[in-house]
Amino acid sequence: MSKEKFYITTPIYYVNDVPHIGHTYTTVAADVLARYNRLKLGADNVYFLTGTDEHGVKIAQAAEEKGKTPQIFVDELAAKFQTAWDSFDISQNDFIRTTEERHEKVVKELYLILKEVKTPDGNDFLYKADYQGLYCVGCESFKTEDDLVDGKCPDHQTEPVEHKETNWFFRISDYENDLKRKINSGELVIQPESKQKEVMGLLDQGLKDVAVSRQNLKWGIELPFDQEQVSYVWIEALMNYISALGGPEGDLFKKFWPANVHLMAKDILKFHAVIWPIMLIALGLELPEKVYAHGYFTIDSQKMSKTIGNVIAPAELAEKYGVDAAKFLLLNQFHFGNDGDISLAKLDEMYNNVLGNDLGNLVSRVLSMTEKYFEGSVPDFDPELSKLQKFDLQADWSRYDYFLDMLQFDDAIEVVWENIRKANAYIEDQKPWELATSNQEVLAEVIYNLLEIIRQTAIFLIPFMPNIADQILTQLGYDPAKEKQKSFEELQKWGSLSSGQQIKKGDVLFPRLVDNS
Ligand code: MSP
Repeated sequence: MSKEKFYITTPIYYVNDVPHIGHTYTTVAADVLARYNRLKLGADNVYFLTGTDEHGVKIAQAAEEKGKTPQIFVDELAAKFQTAWDSFDISQNDFIRTTEERHEKVVKELYLILKEVKTPDGNDFLYKADYQGLYCVGCESFKTEDDLVDGKCPDHQTEPVEHKETNWFFRISDYENDLKRKINSGELVIQPESKQKEVMGLLDQGLKDVAVSRQNLKWGIELPFDQEQVSYVWIEALMNYISALGGPEGDLFKKFWPANVHLMAKDILKFHAVIWPIMLIALGLELPEKVYAHGYFTIDSQKMSKTIGNVIAPAELAEKYGVDAAKFLLLNQFHFGNDGDISLAKLDEMYNNVLGNDLGNLVSRVLSMTEKYFEGSVPDFDPELSKLQKFDLQADWSRYDYFLDMLQFDDAIEVVWENIRKANAYIEDQKPWELATSNQEVLAEVIYNLLEIIRQTAIFLIPFMPNIADQILTQLGYDPAKEKQKSFEELQKWGSLSSGQQIKKGDVLFPRLVDNS
């Protein structure tokens, strides 16, 4: 991953739905990476983008069903996403909406550029042709056989009719080899590996050109060279990654392009790993470094759906566990990249055991002992002169860094928890309560080491649970804001904790869950 800057994106979410924990999952993962890279590279060198996708037939229809104008409808829902991310403490640098003027302007610019492009085979990249297929009048869109249930549109229970429409197409079929080469050479990395294989499989089968405009649809961005047509929503949606940076000439674009990670779930991999890179090649722009498609999850083994009534809003989780714990629990249910299940019982269990018992108790026990044996000040001890066990977390920091680079969040967390468990075992082994009467010198060393492990844990947790990290630092006697101004190397260095610093034992980090059953 490039060292100087970090540009990360989530998908821009359709506003035909309210935010749920599916959207939250991707957004939280991106937030962790953005926060980690801010620590490493400095806040100015990180750009984290999210937003909402607001055009297209689906949205126009949903607005009509609610008896609202599309604009009012999307304004209301976009605000719900903004509020959701604010209350979930998401640290995005920008929230783009595709109905914003800045987006529409860049989309038109990009279409104009693409209109002039010749493919490697010397053809026009953009061409007009008839599109023929099964059309659902209710949806105002073409359907494939796979979309239909018993030959009918599942949303309208009607049989689609044969329909011919003239559209603009991208000649993506001329770029199969170019794209394969770029994937094989590592210029474009698709992760996890299984997803890269899937994309190569698609390219081996051969690509069909894609229709990139729609006729007779008002709710979209008009093509700058054809007033009869609007952009197909997917194509203009992808362009948000450029429009948010002010277009190819924008200052932000010059600083942050290309994206270091485009993050999403597997449902939209093809758009990001095939169509989008080909558009970029045609535009003459650099490809993203990495496209990462994580898995899909179910809730208690059931698909999340309004009919089943198991859709969880991010606010519900935050209310029950607190924002930081909610994020942590969400990301640690199963291995990122795989499909998985979120079990409500497991969330509670992890909250109590992993957060409350392992981490919460460690902090509270060690701070109590510091109060009891050293009047609340960090004992006088020079870590260079350790007589017992020498702690050094440098190798752990490298492993943590590697795992975050690979988006293996649970493995990165496991590195942190290895240390938390080690610290808990160290207390049992050293028995400070016995040392208090037998050996003050060793007691000082043990308590110092424990406090320093807790300090390092707080730094490890900044990307995942920033408020909890701040609380721990405050309890250790720091001003967290000041601490974070230090260089990352300094923060990671074993023994940075100063002897004599006064701790401030505070509230319990993970209060007991209120039993509502
Ligand atoms: N608007 C398009 C994206 C355009 S990006 C240029 C879109 N929007 S969406 O609202 O349908 O969001 C899909 C994304 O939501 C997934 O890729 C994933 O990030 C997230 N998820 C929604 N439900 C999810 C699960 N059940 N499990 C995991 N991720 C989920 O597609």
